[in-house]
Amino acid sequence: MERKVKWGVIGSGGIARRRTIPEGIIKAEHAKLEVIYDINSEINNSVAKEIQVVPAGSILDLLKSDIDAVYIASPANIHLDQVIACAESKKHILCEKPLGMTVKEAEEMIRICSGNEVILGVGLMMRFLSQHQSALKLILEGKLGKPVYARAQLSCWYPPIEGAWRQDPETGGGGSLMDMGSHCIDLLEMFFGKIKSVSCFINNIIHSYRSEDSAVVSMLFENGAIGTVDTYFCIPDNSSKNILELYGSKGSILAKGTIGQGSEGEMTAFLESDDSGYNAQQERNAGEGMKIAPKPVNTYMAEIEEFSNAILQNREPTNNSALGLRSQKILAACYMSARTGKVVEIE
Ligand SMILES: NC(=O)c1ccc[n+]([C@@H]2O[C@H](COP(=O)([O-])OP(=O)(O)OC[C@H]3O[C@@H](n4cnc5c(N)ncnc54)[C@H](O)[C@@H]3O)[C@@H](O)[C@H]2O)c1
Repeated sequence: MERKVKWGVIGSGGIARRRTIPEGIIKAEHAKLEVIYDINSEINNSVAKEIQVVPAGSILDLLKSDIDAVYIASPANIHLDQVIACAESKKHILCEKPLGMTVKEAEEMIRICSGNEVILGVGLMMRFLSQHQSALKLILEGKLGKPVYARAQLSCWYPPIEGAWRQDPETGGGGSLMDMGSHCIDLLEMFFGKIKSVSCFINNIIHSYRSEDSAVVSMLFENGAIGTVDTYFCIPDNSSKNILELYGSKGSILAKGTIGQGSEGEMTAFLESDDSGYNAQQERNAGEGMKIAPKPVNTYMAEIEEFSNAILQNREPTNNSALGLRSQKILAACYMSARTGKVVEIE
């Protein structure tokens, strides 16, 4: 396969500039960056200069250029309109999470993309981390036994900032849960399968903006396992180690820092052999466990490479729109639970 997918970017000044362009689109073997657009032309011009690519003056200009696919990395409340514009111009779309603001918006995106015969993917790139893939393999091979409990944590310090779109549900769809909890929930579904129901608390413990700065979700998986996601905008960065814990009847997989944007986290598996019986003394194996340290993968490069290959091979990408819709459905159930104080079944 020699052809490269020609990419455009909408919303070049945020995560696109920090990660997805330099680590993903520029580095991926089957991708080539052609044109970028940001509503802030000063930023757009400076990113364009930085990476030696053409700046577009409008979305229309970007869509008129000879590109195959667009990476949308604008605030969540603009995703729907931009996905529609790209789909109607017959461009394939990798849209950042969340897929719009609501279940309805995600469904609308899927309908429009399907009607225009373009592929829609979602930027839930943490699935690609090589340690997460190794953990998934161990679980699928039955090494963890029957799944029992999963926890995923992603928190940071995010103080009030004038005009910050994540701090207002009108523009972000929600706060820490929508923004970071969405990655955690998606990862736990990848590891343990479908979530059946959720119970959720959200709060503003420290910051006074309109979006929640704190959220905890308890979830029951269809296979009977139980899980939690905890995600805060009000814990200092260095205090949150972004823990991932996966427990089963035959062992555990414990990780620190694998959830996030980099690939420097650590993961260890503590697995029992098949014949281990009940130990009345409850002696703990003092062993260090088995380090899970496969060759690191840059998640931004992996998501762009996978999506580019999906286009070239005319197939669904791994991070397809169904995942984006699923994420919106679970998030909607979480917010409903937080509002009503009830356990909510996933639609
Ligand atoms: N997967 C990840 O690792 C990851 C990390 C951060 C953000 N995100 C997602 O990426 C998206 C953007 O987040 P961010 O942190 O980069 O936000 P940001 O605010 O840092 O950057 C967004 C950029 O979009 C531009 N923009 C705003 N309105 C626009 C419009 N109408 N048209 C074109 N450009 C516009 C802004 O000027 C800014 O440069 C969100 O959906 C967010 O959830 C994903």
